Amino acid sequence: MKEDPESKESLTVVDNRTGLTYEIPIKDQAVNASDFRKIKEHERDFGLLVYDPSFVNTASCRSAITFIDGDQGVLEYRGYPIEELAKKSTFLETAYLLIKGELPTSAELDAWTNEIRTHTYMHEKMKMFMEGFQYDAHPMGMLIATVAAMSTIYRDARDVTDPESREANTIRLIAKMPTVAAFTYRHNRGLPYVYPDNDLTYVGNFLSMLWKMAEPQYAPSPVLERAIDVLFILHADHEQNCSTNAMRSVGSSESDPYSSTAAAAAALYGPLHGGANEAVINMLNGIGDKKNIPDFVRRVKEGEGLLWGFGHRVYKNYDPRAEIIKQTADEVFELTGPNPLLEIALELERIALEDDYFIERKLYPNVDFYSGIIYQALGFPVDMFPALFAIPRTAGWLAQWREMLEDKERKIARPRQLFVGESRRPYVPMDQR
Ligand code: SDX
Repeated sequence: MKEDPESKESLTVVDNRTGLTYEIPIKDQAVNASDFRKIKEHERDFGLLVYDPSFVNTASCRSAITFIDGDQGVLEYRGYPIEELAKKSTFLETAYLLIKGELPTSAELDAWTNEIRTHTYMHEKMKMFMEGFQYDAHPMGMLIATVAAMSTIYRDARDVTDPESREANTIRLIAKMPTVAAFTYRHNRGLPYVYPDNDLTYVGNFLSMLWKMAEPQYAPSPVLERAIDVLFILHADHEQNCSTNAMRSVGSSESDPYSSTAAAAAALYGPLHGGANEAVINMLNGIGDKKNIPDFVRRVKEGEGLLWGFGHRVYKNYDPRAEIIKQTADEVFELTGPNPLLEIALELERIALEDDYFIERKLYPNVDFYSGIIYQALGFPVDMFPALFAIPRTAGWLAQWREMLEDKERKIARPRQLFVGESRRPYVPMDQR
């Protein structure tokens, strides 16, 4: 090629079918997929599609919210390293940062906290709605359905183009998600619902709605309250993960934020995503003893199942959140006593990280590997774990939803397909089938 390729931010593509050459511009380390439509074998062709099942190498949007460097194990919310936020911030402050883009001033944080605090109650009709569930309904099934049903209460939420409506329903969803989750827990136990106590912190109030019994006011343990606040910070956002993709996709049709959040929570519920923390505990219980680990690992390597809590689409190094969770676990276990599953988890991690099968595939513990062990030590039932992921991730989903609605390039999400089915054929009468 005559010109120095460095001087041109573009690809030069030769279509060997026609011998024609095309210039495809490169911008932000990416090419625009639509530019490939001009590459045709015949004039009447649709043009080339870019095939990428599960979006392994496709950027679906421009976003300024969360940055991940999977090779370096870097995670930043609005430029702030997750390690610093986990040490110095609170979940509500982090939620403000994700949604507004900047850390709040003291006055802004007070106003934000009061806004959230005064919207923690759920409409009484929603309480009656939840009564319809079986006593042993899975908390996530109840949470998803109840959040969707909230769209019938807050009808103003459908006007997603109104910034005031977006703000009001952002506050409502962040405020009410702990209430919904706590109510699912009380429902499963046949216990009366505990109404929000707005004298407590966001996490303290959540613990009160879960565990308050006959005492006048619930007094959360500061250590446990802080541990959950840190876990909520770590789970708040994670760029274009499966559930955020659902939030953006459903939201792109201008559906209301409750329906979009319910769709996102439904995606999170899957064991390959936010349901993995529940799957990890079930796996560790199934292993039962350290002596059974070699046989379990052998079966995974033979394709008999997954090492739950390991692997990640983006992190090809240690998930930075897993490291922080492990440190938080030590503080929790000092108070609650060690979770016997921790020993199995640590030995399983040690063996996996020395085994070529996992090394070659760059499989490291992800955020779900240790979080369940803490949640169990804190006294949460295993089937509550995905709901504990959904509470903080609601802030991330809403930040991404708002960014999508304000994006000038926004269009309804509607991917193409490669058709591999039957070609056109005539209807076959019944007596000829
Ligand atoms: C979350 O995306 C996010 O950001 C998600 C999340 C967030 O904060 O939103 O970080 C939260 O969902 C964390 C992930 C929780 N899920 C799990 O722990 C479930 C177990 N992990 C796997 O299902 C898997 O690792 C995924 C789903 C997490 C990632 O899947 P990918 O990127 O599609 O990877 P892959 O399936 O193509 O795996 C590559 C290879 C395959 O082997 P080969 O076919 O090449 O021989 O690695 C193997 C996989 O079989 N593999 C595993 C494995 N994960 C991948 N083998 C055993 N155990 C595993 N856990």
